[in-house]
Amino acid sequence: MGSSRGTYYSALKQINRFANSPLSLRRVCNSVAKSAATAVQANGCRILCLNPRKEYLITSGAYGLSDLYLKKGPLDVHRSLPDILDGKVVFIADATKDRRVQYPQIAREQGISSILGIPILDRGDAIGEIRIYTREPRQFSEADKSFLLSVADICAVIFEGAELHQLLEQDYKVSDKRRKSSRVSPLPTTTLRPTTFAHPSEEDFAKLLDFYCIEWLYEPRSFPLRWDGDKIAEMFTPDFYLPELDLYVELTTLKQNLLTEKNRKLRRLRELYPEVNIRLLNKNDFLKLLAKYGYGPLGEAKVEGVDRVLYSHAKIQRRVRTLARHISRDYAGQQLVLIGILKGVVCFMADLMQNLSIPVTMDFMAISYYGGDGQVVKITRDLDSSITGQHVLMVEDIVDTGMTLNYILNHLSAHNPASLRVCTLLDKRARRLINVPLNYIGFDVPDEFVVGYGLDYKGQYRNLPFVGILHPELIKDRKPG
Ligand code: PRP
Repeated sequence: MGSSRGTYYSALKQINRFANSPLSLRRVCNSVAKSAATAVQANGCRILCLNPRKEYLITSGAYGLSDLYLKKGPLDVHRSLPDILDGKVVFIADATKDRRVQYPQIAREQGISSILGIPILDRGDAIGEIRIYTREPRQFSEADKSFLLSVADICAVIFEGAELHQLLEQDYKVSDKRRKSSRVSPLPTTTLRPTTFAHPSEEDFAKLLDFYCIEWLYEPRSFPLRWDGDKIAEMFTPDFYLPELDLYVELTTLKQNLLTEKNRKLRRLRELYPEVNIRLLNKNDFLKLLAKYGYGPLGEAKVEGVDRVLYSHAKIQRRVRTLARHISRDYAGQQLVLIGILKGVVCFMADLMQNLSIPVTMDFMAISYYGGDGQVVKITRDLDSSITGQHVLMVEDIVDTGMTLNYILNHLSAHNPASLRVCTLLDKRARRLINVPLNYIGFDVPDEFVVGYGLDYKGQYRNLPFVGILHPELIKDRKPG
């Protein structure tokens, strides 16, 4: 069995036409995968590109493979046919037994026998792979490999074109913004994301994660939940996987009535896969998250008023004094650097430091705000003095998702302080996405939109001497616009 030169020629001609078409990256790659698999008489093909940090492979397009196989879990570059990314063509005779296969069990279940992996190289650097799959064990001819290497070259051009397109789009958005505002923002660093989101809210969430430099994979794994004999009767595919946090996130923003069903599936998933860490972000959680940055329907709401006082001035002062006593005791005999992130922390920082009985210095940092425009978080004001070898206490007004603190702690740890701890006035644990260590906590705050004592809503309310809950009219349940 083998393909003729004519077959390769026609397939390459067709693939070149796809590469030059105005179709989306996903559709181009699906078509290329189909032509490539057909030309080498294989059962399936998958085109993969590397994620921005070069740790995982993301499916750009596929043909002839089941959803379960495609979503069997994140493909780790070090565990899944690792040699391909060193620029080598890799042949796996039996995918069910070869140790270079990351999910041999699923290959067995899905009837995959042989795999041929071809690197996609850009000026000598691997940027992705083509994988060819067969149900029957088979060898590939030199002509097959040579054909697929040519397809890989075309894929490199396709990826480059998509990246350029993305960059130009970003650039256009930034220039458009510049025209509208005098605030000049730097050009974003582009990353190729061949993801087609099922819903705009997922794209919004991905942008938010990108802003905080949190790696994400979109729908990398489907979890079978129910079987009918040997056949899978029900599956669940969480929207996101955040590899660094080993966390799956499922967004439910549209049909609230589906929430009960989703909760049922989640319970089942937790029973069957107790090792899997998953969070459900419901519509309100998500809208509040966007509103925090002034986005989404809640973000556009008119600033009206505060509904009720949550922590009075006196209560805050009492709690701050207690925190200061604990901190002074723990750092007795040592010099401490307090670091706050502007602007929300100002009231808390001022009160806390006045109550400390140990010698302290203080410093402030500021970071850029989420703009939903493909930028990543930037430190816009860095520390005045070095913290290397110093005892550092990060002071925060509120820890919500934990994304700000996670970013800042990573930044500060790189400066090798003698110790690094965190003190926050408010801990909104219900909304945590990243588990950041908190050493001193003022109040466990309920999942409400809080303002005052430094905390703002669209720049307002920071001057209130108490912490209050924003009027429910501003955060009531509305349909995404
Ligand atoms: C607030 C707060 C924290 C951050 C916590 O800052 O001061 O730094 O949010 O949220 P997270 O845990 O979800 O990252 P904000 O961005 O509102 O800016 P501000 O301090 O200037 O008000």
